[in-house]
Order: sequence, then C-alpha cells, then structure tokens
Amino acid sequence: MAPHPRHLLTLEEFSPKEVEGLLVLAAKVKKSPAQYQKALASQSLAMIFDKSSARTRISFDIGMNQLGGHALFINGTEIQIGKRESVGDTAKVLSRYVQGIMIRTYAHSIVEGLAENSAVPIINGLTDSHHPCQVLADFQTVRENFKKLKGLQLVYVGDGNNMTHSLMIISAKTGVHCRVVCPEGYEPDASILKSAQTEGKKTGSRIEITHQVKGSAKGADVVYTDVWASMGQEAEKEKRVRDFQGYQVDEKLMAECPQAIFLHCLPAHRGEEVSAGVIDGKQSKVWDQAENRLHAQKAVLITLMGKRGKS
Ligand code: CP
Ligand code: NVA
Repeated sequence: MAPHPRHLLTLEEFSPKEVEGLLVLAAKVKKSPAQYQKALASQSLAMIFDKSSARTRISFDIGMNQLGGHALFINGTEIQIGKRESVGDTAKVLSRYVQGIMIRTYAHSIVEGLAENSAVPIINGLTDSHHPCQVLADFQTVRENFKKLKGLQLVYVGDGNNMTHSLMIISAKTGVHCRVVCPEGYEPDASILKSAQTEGKKTGSRIEITHQVKGSAKGADVVYTDVWASMGQEAEKEKRVRDFQGYQVDEKLMAECPQAIFLHCLPAHRGEEVSAGVIDGKQSKVWDQAENRLHAQKAVLITLMGKRGKS
C-alpha cells in the first residue's frame, strides 16, 4: 500500500515538538539556502487559488524553485473544484501528476476533502477558518526577535478570524500566551478556542478573549492585527468598519508595550486596523515577517514532500 501522506491543514496535526522542528528548519533554510537547493529536485507542487494572493502564491512558487522543484499555478475559476469535478476526484487526479497540492479556498471542508482523497500532501494556503503557513512565518519572526517563544505574550487586536484561529493554535503549541481583543460578536470560533486552550494547558500557554482595548497591550511582546473584513466578507465591509471603531492598533496602544514588535499578515489597510505610524514605525517587523513566508514554507515543503516526509 502507498504510504499515507502527511498534510498541513490547521497545524493541530503537528505536535509541539514537530512545530518547533518546523521553526528550527525554517531558520536553517533561511541561513543556508544553498544546502537545500536539491531538496525537492524534479518535484512539482500544484497551487489552486480560489481567492486572491500575492505573498502565498509568490513565496510558494519561488520556494519550490529554490528547492529544485516546480510550482504550477491553477486558477480556481478554471478547475472549479467541487463544481466541475468533485473535490475527491480532483485530489485523485492531481495526485497522479504532482507530489504536493497547496490550496487557498473558502470552506475548510474543501481542504479536508482533498486530504481524505489525496495520495500526496495537501497544504492549506488559507481557508475561511485557518492560515497555518502564515503563522509559521509569524512565529519564525517572533523567534528571531526574542530568541525564544515559550512564555512570551502575544496580543491580537481585531476580528476573530482565520488568522486568530491559527495564532491561537500555534501559541498553544509553542507555550506562547495569546490574548485576543475583539468587539462583541466578532469572537473566534468557540470550538477552536476550546481546543487551543486544552492544548495550551500542556505547554503552559494561556489563551484568553477580551473586549477591552485600553490596557490590553500591557506586557505584550507581540502585537498583531489583521483586516476587519476578510476575503469573502466584502459585502459586510461598511458594517465592520463601524463595528470595529476603537479596535485600531495605533501609537497609543503600542505605547503600552514599548519593547513589543508589531506584526500584520498583510495586506494591510492603514487607517483601519492599523495606523500608518505603527505599521511603518520602529516596532513594526512586517517586512521580515513577509520574507519569512518563503523560508517557513520551504521548511513545510521539505518536511512534507522531501524524503523526511515519507513514512
Ligand atoms: N498574508 C498572505 O497570505 O498574503 P496573500 O493573501 O497576499 O497571499
Ligand atoms: N483574514 C485575511 C487574511 C489574509 C491573508 C483574509 O482571510 O482575507
């Protein structure tokens, strides 16, 4: 029987030790890229995009090239996954051509459906509920700045969205405390919160929700925010801008934690979730963070598609 591939759907499928391993490998890949030039020689990654992307598409494409492999961009409107052809059939067919599949889509059930039917690793490049590749790059950036993770305090201000879920999960895996500051009605998913809190108990990570912005960044090592309206929520944009008033990461909030770094997954909307002064200011590490998408994903690709990924 063919070996069962490993997938990266939420990061919940990786143990704390394995998450640490991914971050260690990401740092090595960043330091010595030449060492990994042939890690995925002659391998191909299919990349399906049902939503827009700059960083994810470009960093996966360049990353595959730098590992000696090749990435194939597939426009979601052409392949019409789940419409023209079932999710399962798409997984079975693509598995005959490529050695890995990365997908950015809406419903998380689509990546689960692919994983159930694929003979090759599935990598979640963002769904409505998770963005695991992003948080690996984020925590690589945090690790570079603080030389450790365990015991740090991350404060996320904004919508309880896919980024929030993935940040809670990786915080729980790495022993980072995670405080989510959001308006009432915009809390993260209760079951993801509960499972992150349960996992966090094992690593000493505290995951909490508050609605109070003032004072929330005191003691923070990392302040993080994301857009108020995610892809797929464009129709709610005006209502969300009203509902999120007061939830901007601005100079006043960052003054509560002068030693903290500021992170944003990007794209950013200056004047909405973050002030220009913060994102373009001294505490911001967003460009290192964007660069680390490349290194962290190369670590994911090597782990899942390289010899180490085969069981
Ligand atoms: N942060 C992120 O995933 O960027 P893109 O949407 O541009 O890929
Ligand atoms: N929450 C955002 C993240 C973009 C990288 C979205 O889903 O649009």
